[in-house]
Amino acid sequence: MVNERITIFDTTLRDGEQSPGCSMNLDEKLQMARQLEALGVDVIEAGFPVASDDDFAAVQAISRTCRKPVIAALCRAIPRDIERAWEALQEAAHPRIHTFLATSDIHLAYKLQKTRAEALAMIRDGVRLAKSLCQDVEFSAEDATRSDWDYLVEVFAVAIDAGATVLNVPDTVGYAVPDEYAKLITHLRERVPGIAGVIISVHCHNDLGLAVANSLAAVSAGARQVECTVNGIGERAGNAALEEVVMALSVRRDALPFATGVQQDAIYRASQTLANITGIEVQPNKAIVGRNAFAHESGIHQHGMLSHRSTYEIMTPESVGVRRTSLVLGKHSGRHALAKRFEELGYPLDRAELEKAYKLFTKLSDQKKEIFDEDLLAIVRDGLTHVPETYKLRALQATAGTSMFATALVTLGTEEGERTETAMGDGPVNAVFGAVDKLTGLKGRLVDYRVHAVTGGADAVGEVFVQVAFDDVVHSGKGASTDIVEASVRAYLNATNKVLFARRAPARVAAETRS
Ligand code: KIV
Ligand code: ZN
Repeated sequence: MVNERITIFDTTLRDGEQSPGCSMNLDEKLQMARQLEALGVDVIEAGFPVASDDDFAAVQAISRTCRKPVIAALCRAIPRDIERAWEALQEAAHPRIHTFLATSDIHLAYKLQKTRAEALAMIRDGVRLAKSLCQDVEFSAEDATRSDWDYLVEVFAVAIDAGATVLNVPDTVGYAVPDEYAKLITHLRERVPGIAGVIISVHCHNDLGLAVANSLAAVSAGARQVECTVNGIGERAGNAALEEVVMALSVRRDALPFATGVQQDAIYRASQTLANITGIEVQPNKAIVGRNAFAHESGIHQHGMLSHRSTYEIMTPESVGVRRTSLVLGKHSGRHALAKRFEELGYPLDRAELEKAYKLFTKLSDQKKEIFDEDLLAIVRDGLTHVPETYKLRALQATAGTSMFATALVTLGTEEGERTETAMGDGPVNAVFGAVDKLTGLKGRLVDYRVHAVTGGADAVGEVFVQVAFDDVVHSGKGASTDIVEASVRAYLNATNKVLFARRAPARVAAETRS
């Protein structure tokens, strides 16, 4: 028997990207979109074009680049939004306009100040306009799970009549519980005229930790599209995690007889790519993609695993693309092995990039004996970024102690030559940032600073992620090194170079450097 197909609608680049700390610039969005295409998602929601020029540019660029999946653009059910979404989708091979309006009484009264009848008219007009532009139209009833069920029946009937091909039932505030959500889907299937001819979609937020459970309950009740994000990123507690939905459908096909088009062994790579881009680490015990998801610590479990893996393993790490051992390369590995491993990790490098990566790799292998995948990923994101390095780190010295001010001496190189400055601070990181500010003449305000070890051991590569506000425009930066102060200054310089790049080419700011 052929299992019914569930459409995987990925909204990492829209609902995910709009959550705190997850913003991406155009290059990063394109990198992620390519991963999503390779992952085999059916729909990529690429942005909300009317929200900003950056979102518009991202939808445009992703439409141009990713030819296989449907590319969706979000818009409220108002003409200006819909027209802007359609404009951004012009080059998509398979465009979808995704229009929405809130339908709960709470949202109607306090957010939209509309009556139910006025909202119905907006939905009819909005979906009609979208349909006059694009064949594939999705309508979402925002806050559906707190809307009156009979009003929702009217709403969806109007949307179908106006031409919607997909009806989305969002649990916008993560309020639903599985049984109730399944009943809502059944209620709609039984009452909405014409619903058999359209796809029912679900979009669950994770405020009560139930996003995946709710999505699966809805699938059992007849939903055939699931909206989700890689690593479950998204507004507040996030959205349903793509990897959990897909693997639940795969591992429990006996209970959930459905198929997806997702390449499961590309899941881990997509998860890592997103974590690398955003700097938001995956929690270690996160299902499917967390560092500990396949780790067996207790003696009893290890004994069971050695006897037979099925004692404690319901899926293999390889099935989602996790290698059992991630030790890959050492000091004597050559360019060929390095290129091959980068390719396996999802980063095919051109000659120039490989040369640069090789230099960084040999430098790193002088500092540490074993190079892990995570180290290589740190090389890609720290060393191969496309932002021009107006300022390059040439030398760094920092001193700190318990009974003294920290001091730093930093030398930066530019096209004009090298300059050195010193600064003091309440710690070495603070001092080096001060020295960089003196050299660049910019005053950065640190908004976020995160540090983590990408590999284990005393010689671990430390990675620093910063968000720095320059005149209230926030730019992110990343840096990696075995020395944490050096990683910090590299991250800070990365953010500094981004702001300079953005300021030098104002016309490109909107298109390329939202960070
Ligand atoms: O959570 C939500 O309701 C949404 C809609 C715009 C689909 O993200
Ligand atoms: Zn949402």
